[in-house]
Amino acid sequence: MHHLIFATNNSHKVLEVKSLLGSNFTIESLQEAGIFIDIPEPFDTLEANAIEKARVIYQLTGSSCFSEDTGLEVPALGGEPGVKSARYAGDDRSFENNIDKLLSKLKDQTDQAARFRTVICLNLQGVNHLFEGICPGRLLGERRGEGGFGYDPIFVPDGADLTFGEMTLDEKNQYSHRKKAITKLTEFLTTLPDSNSLPGTNTNLQPDGQNKN
Ligand code: IMP
Repeated sequence: MHHLIFATNNSHKVLEVKSLLGSNFTIESLQEAGIFIDIPEPFDTLEANAIEKARVIYQLTGSSCFSEDTGLEVPALGGEPGVKSARYAGDDRSFENNIDKLLSKLKDQTDQAARFRTVICLNLQGVNHLFEGICPGRLLGERRGEGGFGYDPIFVPDGADLTFGEMTLDEKNQYSHRKKAITKLTEFLTTLPDSNSLPGTNTNLQPDGQNKN
């Protein structure tokens, strides 16, 4: 059994990742681990942000952990919103406003291709392991569906007719960037010696997150 902290405050991501893990894995979100901090994403690549988020939590807890950073990349917009996907609308950022800004930028574009890219960083005893998942697709000019989060209502993955926002979680998982990256992570973890605690894992987390190793 492998136990890891998932270094995120995004409840949608936690739900998705928990639905993807087999019975050999358990994870705790930051909130579940009693860690109440907002980890900054100051860098200009998904990789650097993922590494930073995992580093912060590893340093705080002494526990092996993983983080992920995801961006929606639109070639017609030079890769935007990309690493800025969460804060695309600037100070007014919200899922709604980010979509509105993207739709207004796409209005005059004929190429509607886009892809989600997820980078996971597993920090094992201070050593980083990166895993990538890509979901190619296209963007619609209007929202469809109430499910999911972020840009899901305007994104149709290749091979589907529905937006992620119209899909159930299981349906989204058949295509998703996050699923592909998590599969690589779990495949890697299963190559490690099976144990109740991964190297560097501190299973005695204190509720205030002030753990020392
Ligand atoms: P971050 O990885 O927390 O920086 O999130 C980046 C942003 O990308 C989120 O705020 C969402 O708007 C968007 N995003 C990330 N993953 C997904 C997804 O699976 N579907 C739709 N939007 C997503």
